[in-house]
Amino acid sequence: MSETLIIPEAAGKEARYTALLPQLAAMMDHKADLVANMAGMSAALKTVFDFFWVGFYRVVGDELVVGPYQGSLACTRIRYGKGVCGTAWQRGETLVVPDVDQFEGHIACSSLSKSEIVVPVFKDGKVVAVLDIDSDERATFDAVDAAYLEQCCRLLP
Ligand code: SME
Repeated sequence: MSETLIIPEAAGKEARYTALLPQLAAMMDHKADLVANMAGMSAALKTVFDFFWVGFYRVVGDELVVGPYQGSLACTRIRYGKGVCGTAWQRGETLVVPDVDQFEGHIACSSLSKSEIVVPVFKDGKVVAVLDIDSDERATFDAVDAAYLEQCCRLLP
């Protein structure tokens, strides 16, 4: 696999996601090692978008356990239905949070985090992990991020 991502520099985020997706698909370990693929995807998303925090929480029993990530130290475990991550797991849907202070029960791993998006990763119809991305600015994420990040997560399991 290539170790260099080719992304148009000045392009908007839609163009960058469009360029990234086939390269992510090519990067995925075809023996489907989930942790290896999460690590590669976190690094690629951090490289292309310079997100404040990007990473995964895996469903382990009745809670989420932190997986590969890029950014400052994060909480290790999140209960089902708790925080943005646990709520996205419970609902089985992507959550876009423009202002984390307005999300009741938001778990602040860093006080610098201002907005967030959480995308469930499905396998055989069940949530097996979530992709969590934090921004240090408000209102960073929208429906464009949701649509493309859902496509990224479909490459995983
Ligand atoms: N804010 C998340 C917790 C994980 S950290 O952002 C990395 C939440 O409310 O679930």
